[in-house]
Amino acid sequence: QKHLLGIQDLSINDVNQILDEAKTFIKLNQSKNKRLNVLNGKTQINLFFEPSTRTQSSFELAGKRLGADVMSMNMANSAIKKGETLIDTAMTLNAMHPDIIVIRHQDSGACNLLSQKVNCAVLNAGDGSREHPTQALLDALTIINRKKKIEGLRVAICGDITHSRVARSNIYLLNMLGAEVNIIAPSNLMPKEIEKFGVNTFSDMKKGLKDCDIVMMLRLQNERMTSSFLSSNREYYEYYGLTPDKLSHAKEDALIMHPGPMNRGIEIDTKLADDINRSVIKEQVELGVAVRMACLKIFCE
Ligand code: CP
Repeated sequence: QKHLLGIQDLSINDVNQILDEAKTFIKLNQSKNKRLNVLNGKTQINLFFEPSTRTQSSFELAGKRLGADVMSMNMANSAIKKGETLIDTAMTLNAMHPDIIVIRHQDSGACNLLSQKVNCAVLNAGDGSREHPTQALLDALTIINRKKKIEGLRVAICGDITHSRVARSNIYLLNMLGAEVNIIAPSNLMPKEIEKFGVNTFSDMKKGLKDCDIVMMLRLQNERMTSSFLSSNREYYEYYGLTPDKLSHAKEDALIMHPGPMNRGIEIDTKLADDINRSVIKEQVELGVAVRMACLKIFCE
């Protein structure tokens, strides 16, 4: 059984297959008839133990557009609230013969654990602070859509790296695809093991953004922080919020990305977030559906 647990488990051929397949869905998603029946008769269960707008809705739309029967569990009303464990929940759902389980969980490793207990494909929709592979894949597709390549680009990833599964998956994928990665973070939000990642590190945002082609901002993951990580929003914005002045150090045609949800005025100036020439944040959301269709199709075959 194939699972999508992380970018680290994928080869370059796997990545290219997903991105090529996703490209074929972009036009379909913009057309009047968005329905294909490649997953007819398949059952997809979405299990989101953490809040989500983009990932959950795009996985649901992706499955429906491919013709699968999609059920999104409401975890707030599930037996988890009565003390049922993740494993017992997984075994219960497994007894109903799903073909795909899409899972987001707050604990790093929950997706891997689930994949060992069920007979269907498991797709990681966000695994603690470990990996968020479909986010990195949709980010790569967005970059390729605009810049026509990734190899040789300089990509800055800025913000709360310590708690970010998006940062980890993006670092793995961008390194695999031949980009140069600059990581920018205050010392308390820079992972101790960062030197193992093969990236350049900066605490000064202007230096880290110098000549970058892509500026990827991250959300402050307050829900994963203890008091030792917290700083004032005003101070954070002054040093690490993306402003026109800081952005001027990147290339003139640098693109602005953010996985969402955004904290405007904390991580990013609100005008830059909406800048139709520079920001591709809405395109990331759009291409997220195509990437998730590709992943469902490939991992459900
Ligand atoms: N980028 C992302 O994972 O967004 P959601 O939390 O809304 O799914």
